[in-house]
Amino acid sequence: MGWAFLGPICPRIKRNPGGHSPRLTAAALAIERKNAVMTGFERRLLERKDELEWLYMELYQDRDKLRELEQSMSRRYAQRPAALKRLDSRREKTPGWFLEGKMLGVTMYTELFAGSLRKLEEKLDYLREQGVTYLHLMPLLKMPHPDNDGGYAVEDFDRVDPSIGSNEDLEALTAAMRKRGMSLCLDFVINHTADSHPWALRAKAGEREYMDRYICFDTPDIPREMEKTIPDVFPETAPGSFLYVEEMGKWVCSSFHPYQWDLNYRNPAVFNDMVGSMLHLTNLGVEVLRIDATPYLWKEVGTTCRNLPQVHTLMRMIRLIMECVCPGVLLKGEVVMAPKELAPYFGTEEKPECHILYNSSTMCTQWSALASGDVRQLKKQLDDLHSLPPHCHFVNYLRCHDDIGWGLNEEFGKTIGQDPLAHKKYLYTFFEGSFPGSYARGERYNYDPKTQDARTCGTTASLCGIEKGLAEGDEAQIALGIQRDLMMHAAMMAMAGFPMLSSGDEIGQLNGYDYHDDPARREDSRNLHRTAFHWDNAALRTRAGTVQQRIWDGLRQLERLRAREDCFSRSASVSTWDTHNDHVLALLRRTETGAMACLFNFSGEEQTAVLDAIDGALFDLIGSEPVRCDSVRLEPYQYRWCRIVPTL
Ligand code: GLC
Repeated sequence: MGWAFLGPICPRIKRNPGGHSPRLTAAALAIERKNAVMTGFERRLLERKDELEWLYMELYQDRDKLRELEQSMSRRYAQRPAALKRLDSRREKTPGWFLEGKMLGVTMYTELFAGSLRKLEEKLDYLREQGVTYLHLMPLLKMPHPDNDGGYAVEDFDRVDPSIGSNEDLEALTAAMRKRGMSLCLDFVINHTADSHPWALRAKAGEREYMDRYICFDTPDIPREMEKTIPDVFPETAPGSFLYVEEMGKWVCSSFHPYQWDLNYRNPAVFNDMVGSMLHLTNLGVEVLRIDATPYLWKEVGTTCRNLPQVHTLMRMIRLIMECVCPGVLLKGEVVMAPKELAPYFGTEEKPECHILYNSSTMCTQWSALASGDVRQLKKQLDDLHSLPPHCHFVNYLRCHDDIGWGLNEEFGKTIGQDPLAHKKYLYTFFEGSFPGSYARGERYNYDPKTQDARTCGTTASLCGIEKGLAEGDEAQIALGIQRDLMMHAAMMAMAGFPMLSSGDEIGQLNGYDYHDDPARREDSRNLHRTAFHWDNAALRTRAGTVQQRIWDGLRQLERLRAREDCFSRSASVSTWDTHNDHVLALLRRTETGAMACLFNFSGEEQTAVLDAIDGALFDLIGSEPVRCDSVRLEPYQYRWCRIVPTL
């Protein structure tokens, strides 16, 4: 079953549109009859079987493989530990659990933070002190060394890398976390394997069955044709999307690095096996699966090979499978795409796909607002998100292990006089510190000479000016850098969804330049912000006046308010509010019992904002002072979270 042969016959996906087929009615009857004696799994499968079968057969036309999948689901359910089944039941009763105000995420590399999974378990108290309820650990499954793209080249989807620990350590960690009310999120690198994965080795050895698991071609014609329309992921460090593999005498698709081979999702064996590995991880206690590089799963000649309809079929099937076997588990999509491409990954309210997505567009728009001091594009971006249906939820963040890609809403940018390319150039030169007057210290990432596009690396603290201030021993600059850093966090934490910090940001960790001297890491400037956690600096969080203490306390204040104030509960509605000032963003959070106005000055000058039509007086919970709606004064980069006290 070569990939090339299947190309033209694969249909465009049509979903069962209304869900009113006679088969469903039969299923509904069957549910009534059997409900009393069925296990949770059987009941859930019965409710979803029709749709799963419909999608699977449309994509694969292979009933035997469908049976095999259902058997593997049933087996995984039988193996699922009782404690996790109990968690599933609780989560089924509170599906929006991850939207509560007390939710706080942090993302980190196990090795950089603690060294190993076991040592990480010993550090859980630190995370608890920080208020963390959600921990995203970067890929930790078996990987080649040293070239593994930060763990995103996987050799065994069922086994923890021995340098980090064992499956038992992972299970012990998730159990310890559950006790403390923390959920573990792990990557599932669904799009590709390492070229040293056993499937790749067997493909290289000429085994047809394993070649069919990858996207391989006998001649370069189709790859050449496809290269014309596929944008490069790493134009500088790994250009192109195909490579010639001599052992096989074939051209193999590798969207990322040459040692990461894209899987062939036209082959149901790939889908079944990968789903089996996902369920294995969830049975070890992983509560959130981050589906890596989601948009890339389906390739078609003549397209960008991103966001194709079949990707949604795959994601919908995965959602159905998870709902049957482990309904408490969340799917988080890594969809770093233009804003208009994001919403389809939530599916519809009736047929959802991902529970949550990274808010990548807002993230980069927020950094753009900081550099320009102008919030119009950020307001537009948030207004667009607020108009999405209620089942669309985001993880908000400022920094993660990756670069900042400048995927702004260019059409809107033009309406406010922004030339898209000139603005992008401004942003990546500003944040690498080469733009005159810039306070930022970062680095450029993957400059593309064809488009002159580039991205940005660096930690929050360094990008906000703290590194420069410290290097120059200038207290005023340091104070302003801290103020920017906290304002950026305060804005991110006031948005709809839940916040996730990058480990180290809570103590203002700076860029690490040592990777320049490491031959295995120097090609990839994302290593600038992938540095060992500074435990010595973390100890300074309790010493008054240190940078660490000022940032730590500032963030803790925000986290406590989020956990305490009803306006951050999951029932809150969030909208932007006009401030009559392009430098100041305002967000309004409302519940049935209260309302809050959060204001952020993105500029380096003092500003005044005017809030119309607010029925009540404002009390700023950050500065503990009353504020006037018709004239809210904000110092450079000041933020205010104000309770609205109704006038009687
Ligand atoms: C995702 C990861 C990134 C990695 C890529 C390839 O985008 O976030 O770090 O390089 O996938 O797996």
